[in-house]
Amino acid sequence: MIISGKELSAKLKAEMAERVATFPAEYGRVPHLVVILVGEDPGSVSYVKGKAKASAEVGIRNTTIRRPDTITEDELLGMIAELNADDGVDGILVQLPLPKHIDEDKIIAAIDKSKDVDGFHPLNVAALWQKQPCTLPCTPKGIMKLLKDSGVELAGRKAVVIGRSTIVGLPVAKLLLDENATVTITHSRTKNLADVTREAEILVVAIGRPKFVTADMVGDGAVVIDVGVNRDPETGKLCGDVDFEACEPKASLITKVPGGVGPMTIACLIENTIEAFLKKVAK
Ligand code: GUN
Repeated sequence: MIISGKELSAKLKAEMAERVATFPAEYGRVPHLVVILVGEDPGSVSYVKGKAKASAEVGIRNTTIRRPDTITEDELLGMIAELNADDGVDGILVQLPLPKHIDEDKIIAAIDKSKDVDGFHPLNVAALWQKQPCTLPCTPKGIMKLLKDSGVELAGRKAVVIGRSTIVGLPVAKLLLDENATVTITHSRTKNLADVTREAEILVVAIGRPKFVTADMVGDGAVVIDVGVNRDPETGKLCGDVDFEACEPKASLITKVPGGVGPMTIACLIENTIEAFLKKVAK
């Protein structure tokens, strides 16, 4: 059985659109997301377009600011300071990765915590790990919604995460732990990785290597969530971190790339923007 992020995200966006339609009458305006894109990286350009398209579908305002990769760190910090001070801006997202001469951590920390719709600000990260109210990072949040919507039981079950990034691997492991799964985080240096992943009842793969997970790494009946967005080196087509064709027969539930986690990430970004807006206007 395939878990469709495309379908669930469409449903969530339709629900959000209904709510947002009531905002002008209730609050005088709709939520406003500002996305900053530095440079021309084709992957980033396409992600940013996806965010603008979803914003339009839900009816929130989206401003995409594009700057050349020659922008200085100070210029970018200046832009963020202005957006932080602008009451008409609810969410600020700086598309990553940034050019090497810009310190990503410094940029993320400069975004007002209440406008950090990515959930990457150190105070949001700290709040997540202290189980305090926080803005959840979009991809882990989307994965948890997919699992919940598919009725996957998590409490007491073995979950294995491949990848330890601050954007996906670490926070999704924490969210699985919060649902009382028994969580193992694995990575490129894990010994006998297949022996570990075969034990997983829930396998979340965010390693960033095309078709890295092969059939021998998947246990019978496992739930497999593929976070990868790669180009297949053979066909040039979009593919995940999981060899879908090979692993699908072994999995009880599995996501596809595209149409799996990706659309959920975007739906959660819109949700985070709406939540940031509501926190502000409800003050
Ligand atoms: N680059 C890849 N994924 C993301 C994301 O979730 N947010 C931002 N800002 N940049 C990214």
